[in-house]
Amino acid sequence: MSQPDAVTENEVFFKHWLRSPRSMGSIIPSSMHLARALAAEVPWEPGSHVIELGGGTGAITQGLLERGIPAANIVVIELESNLYNYLAGRYPDVTVVQGDATRLDEIIARLPIERVSTVISGLPMVNMPPAFKRAIIEQAFAAMPAGHAMLQYTYSPLAPVPVEALGLDAKLIRYVLRNFPPAAVWRYRKKKT
Ligand SMILES: C[S@@+](CC[C@H](N)C(=O)[O-])C[C@H]1O[C@@H](n2cnc3c(N)ncnc32)[C@H](O)[C@@H]1O
Repeated sequence: MSQPDAVTENEVFFKHWLRSPRSMGSIIPSSMHLARALAAEVPWEPGSHVIELGGGTGAITQGLLERGIPAANIVVIELESNLYNYLAGRYPDVTVVQGDATRLDEIIARLPIERVSTVISGLPMVNMPPAFKRAIIEQAFAAMPAGHAMLQYTYSPLAPVPVEALGLDAKLIRYVLRNFPPAAVWRYRKKKT
């Protein structure tokens, strides 16, 4: 895996933000402090996959790899074609998919995945219509065994999805000040019915 020049990575990210601020959600990539905090919360087991939604330039992917999750067990989904190309070039051993997280079930069905341990979302959910949020959350939980959790980071101190309406228990598990903007890491679990 290659370590890109930080200036280049920031430039790539910023150019996309200029073009599409709502879908980027931030002007620069996540910090390694946030990436490490998230990766530490991933309950990975050999044979299972971690799915990352909204890969951007790969800041969080890098944290997952440094945590020791093998590249072959990471799937990154990115909507924007230029970012997809950047990610696929940076991480040739990671499964990088150009696709829309609202169609997560179709994407997973095409991949040779047996078990998903965690879905991580870096998607700017606060900017999304309610139907998109619901589709993403429902498909993420359908992809994981019962009892598994989804991780989401966000720049708002409030959960970016309607947790009650979606039947979720949401817990703010980390607050990372060394990120721009400072980020909250949420863990969602399905409420037992
Ligand atoms: C806040 S950035 C996070 C990027 C990176 N994970 C990081 O932390 O630096 C959000 C990313 O989600 C991508 N994105 C937005 N909507 C998406 C969607 N519906 N499906 C997949 N990716 C999406 C954007 O293109 C952008 O790369």
